[in-house]
Amino acid sequence: MADKPAVLVARKVFPEVIERLAQHFEVEDNPEDHIHTPAELAQRLQGKVGAFITLSERIDAALLDAQPQLRAVCNMAVGYNNIDVAACTARGVLVSNTPDVLTETTADFGFALMMATARRITESERFLREGRWDRWAYDMFAGTDVHGATLGILGMGRIGQGIARRGALGFGMKVAYHNRSRLPADQEGPINARWVDKETLLRESDHLVVVVPYSAATHHAIGAAELAQMKPTATLTNIARGGVVDDAALAQALAEGRIAAAGLDVFEGEPQVHPELLARRNVVLTPHIASASVATRRAMADLAADNLIAALTGGTPPTAVNPQVLGA
Ligand code: 8YV
Repeated sequence: MADKPAVLVARKVFPEVIERLAQHFEVEDNPEDHIHTPAELAQRLQGKVGAFITLSERIDAALLDAQPQLRAVCNMAVGYNNIDVAACTARGVLVSNTPDVLTETTADFGFALMMATARRITESERFLREGRWDRWAYDMFAGTDVHGATLGILGMGRIGQGIARRGALGFGMKVAYHNRSRLPADQEGPINARWVDKETLLRESDHLVVVVPYSAATHHAIGAAELAQMKPTATLTNIARGGVVDDAALAQALAEGRIAAAGLDVFEGEPQVHPELLARRNVVLTPHIASASVATRRAMADLAADNLIAALTGGTPPTAVNPQVLGA
């Protein structure tokens, strides 16, 4: 029997997914879950025709040039700003991501993070655990209402729409959004969503949730100038990507009381977090877990595996980012 093609699974994932891949491939996995440096990743990719990766692996032109045998790079993430897609396409390397399977789970989390931020849940929990709760007070941890407030969504893709649905249908929120393209009327209608320009969104939002993919065009989409336009009572929640929000400018805005609070699941330079954000009491911080339900992480891993198997066995990868390479 001919040797199976070799693939790399760059991070630790569900054993069942490794077993499935092993039916088709010679799998080099990473049970210790070591984070590879770029040099280590290049070394591990030697002789591999496929890679199952996550956001912690960067695939760029230099790496691709050193691995001309590589045919498919399958990301276990919907976002793929860790991959130079143009460089992959130019070299005929298939790229895939994991859309749809994480939409509702991520929207749940975005809404929860926004609520925790508005209602000061983690801040008040810390206070209680520190043994400081000795009385009721009329203004103790008084936050901002969510129901009936204006929910602003920057980036109205699948996840943004999921958050908007929760706000409009579950909490009676007024939904305003800004996106390059406007939703068709039959999608705006049921959630009463109103397309507005970015300035209006910043000005009117009581709770602004950022859900836009990261690219050069969205780098620091929320910076000092944008934060200055928001209401002093507003909250900002970022579940998109580090770098979409200017974390240093946000820390400054929070310190100066220019907005009320922030909820952050993603950070510039994560897993490092800006020290001034760590020091602020009115920031809810979570370690990039918006898609982390057991079922959804399994669905993401299965979908990344489906893509890898299809790409390397003559099938049609279900969620290719650059399907044009298949016909080439
Ligand atoms: C992942 C994410 O956990 O899907 C994305 O784009 O940011 C998260 O769901 C992360 O990217 C792991 O690769």
